[in-house]
Amino acid sequence: MSQDTLKLSAARAAIQYVPEGKVIGVGTGSTANFFIDELAGIKGRIAGAVASSEATAERLSSHGIKVFGLDEIDAPLPVYIDGADEITHSGAMIKGGGGALTREKIIASVAEKFICIADGSKLVERLGSFPLPVEVIPMAWRPLSSRLAALYGGSPALRIREGKPFITDNGNYILDIAGLTVEDPRRMEAEINQLAGVVTVGLFACQGASICLLGTGQGVQTLHFRTC
Ligand code: A5P
Repeated sequence: MSQDTLKLSAARAAIQYVPEGKVIGVGTGSTANFFIDELAGIKGRIAGAVASSEATAERLSSHGIKVFGLDEIDAPLPVYIDGADEITHSGAMIKGGGGALTREKIIASVAEKFICIADGSKLVERLGSFPLPVEVIPMAWRPLSSRLAALYGGSPALRIREGKPFITDNGNYILDIAGLTVEDPRRMEAEINQLAGVVTVGLFACQGASICLLGTGQGVQTLHFRTC
């Protein structure tokens, strides 16, 4: 089975977690895109969605799904549904491969449940094979690269697209740290968030997933996590 087929199966399985008549949070990336396309089929049953990126807002709107700003709705959201770049057996994740990590973390923080949708290749014993994205204020990227390398090892690199620094929806840069060993995701998340110039680190461990719907060759597995 292709990776896309597995992503689609996880995205389809997430539809059962969409509550009637509510506004839900929707993430960013290829798996989230499959979910949005599935959501279009039941759009009459929801009030609308809060989007974690401009790209997601556009795709939701293109299906006729009403997009709300976070300031237009009464928090909490019942559910936030999004993909991940890596997820552990305890629900800690690396996110931000698509560059939307800051808005993803904000929406996740006001959601009662985070439903992670992913193909089986995303489940890992330990985070860090996927380069860890860190959104940073542009003027701080170089000093932060040195600081992060000194603190954690690995190789932080400025994300470049089409020969230029990648700019997030918030007007910032992204550092991708390759070659990290993430022993304690919660501690690393808290520490990196404290560094001057860091906007958001793509570790979602202090507040991880509630449930992961994992698309595998043997069907969709549902993993439940204890949240704190
Ligand atoms: C977007 O910024 C990311 O956090 C995505 O959720 C993550 O990269 C997963 O993307 P795919 O679903 O495309 O693998």
